Amino acid sequence: MGGASTTLASVTMRAPRGRALDLGTGCGIQALHASLHGDAVVATDVSARALGYARFNELLNRAAAEAGTPAPTPWDLREGSMLEPVAGEQFDLVVSNPPFVITPPGAPAFEYRDGGLERDGVVRTLLRDVGTVLAPGGVAQFLGNWEIHGDWTARLEEALDAAAVPLDAWIVQRDVLDPAEYAETWLRDAGITPDRDPSRFRAAYEAYVAAFDAVGADAVGFGILTLRRPAAGAPTLRRLEEHEGALAAPLGPTLAAALEAHDWLAATSDAELLDTAVTVAPDVTKETYGRPLLAEPEHILLRQGGGFGRSIKADTALAGLVGACDGELTVGQIAHALAALLDVPAGQMVGGLVPAVRDLVRDGFLTR
Ligand SMILES: C[S@@+](CC[C@H](N)C(=O)[O-])C[C@H]1O[C@@H](n2cnc3c(N)ncnc32)[C@H](O)[C@@H]1O
Repeated sequence: MGGASTTLASVTMRAPRGRALDLGTGCGIQALHASLHGDAVVATDVSARALGYARFNELLNRAAAEAGTPAPTPWDLREGSMLEPVAGEQFDLVVSNPPFVITPPGAPAFEYRDGGLERDGVVRTLLRDVGTVLAPGGVAQFLGNWEIHGDWTARLEEALDAAAVPLDAWIVQRDVLDPAEYAETWLRDAGITPDRDPSRFRAAYEAYVAAFDAVGADAVGFGILTLRRPAAGAPTLRRLEEHEGALAAPLGPTLAAALEAHDWLAATSDAELLDTAVTVAPDVTKETYGRPLLAEPEHILLRQGGGFGRSIKADTALAGLVGACDGELTVGQIAHALAALLDVPAGQMVGGLVPAVRDLVRDGFLTR
């Protein structure tokens, strides 16, 4: 299993699901995982050969299950491109490590990594169309490459705005390569290097650089995309963020908890939030920096040990609030106590803390 396969398996949210789809199943690894928490699994691929491997692995897994583990859900394997084999159906989970590599005309293309669509068409097609096969509340998780033209979010936002079904979206950009680095990466993956075949390398390298130049792309992004069809009403989540640091594995539970926190926050007024007792998560630590002779630290950093490993700068009030969140007192009670202690008007203290508390709940520093 390659790095991308492992990443997708790690980020997939493993709640029990009704129908699951693995698009571009290859050897069937994502279908195998999905069959452990989905009632029905459909796995597609454009390659009949890949589907043969998937069937082999399914049977192998079933044989192992007969030796004592629970029988896994059987897979419905279907040949066809992108969403064609499942048009008109609905799934509760769609996972895909799709053939997302951008390959210009004139450079070598491979079925396992190129979907046969122009430019970053694989990711754009999924962003536009995957909602058509999601049941209400259904989630799609996939990986992909996208062209960057200036602001990296612009092209993705535009594709999301054009989605056939409006979706909640959370996209994490993990890596950015300039056209030359991208060309080298995928030519090397194809076994084409300047040492082995200088003229072929040069021609293909120039094809990549010229193709990106022709469309005005400065770079290529890689990342993790999580989309959700709202169970009811309009989407409430649109989060596009860069995160190049290490991620905990599996990350699926973190993503699931963040979506749940988002839904709670979206449905909770500031007054209700102030009336809620929250608890600081067990993986959060506090780092302080400052001169030993000063009573107050100059910088306070709250850091997560798990999940995204995020860290945030906190002022004295926010650090004081987090330090008092043991689940007993409400956010409002702590904020008022801090206002008295730090001699700040209560309204100002509350107004400053509420948005920060929302962010901390969303990102799992504080839990309900
Ligand atoms: C990067 S591999 C992923 C394999 C596997 N799902 C995994 O996670 O390791 C991409 C798969 O997509 C398939 N594929 C290529 N073009 C496709 C298309 N247009 N529609 C569906 N699948 C396609 C390839 O045959 C290959 O099996």
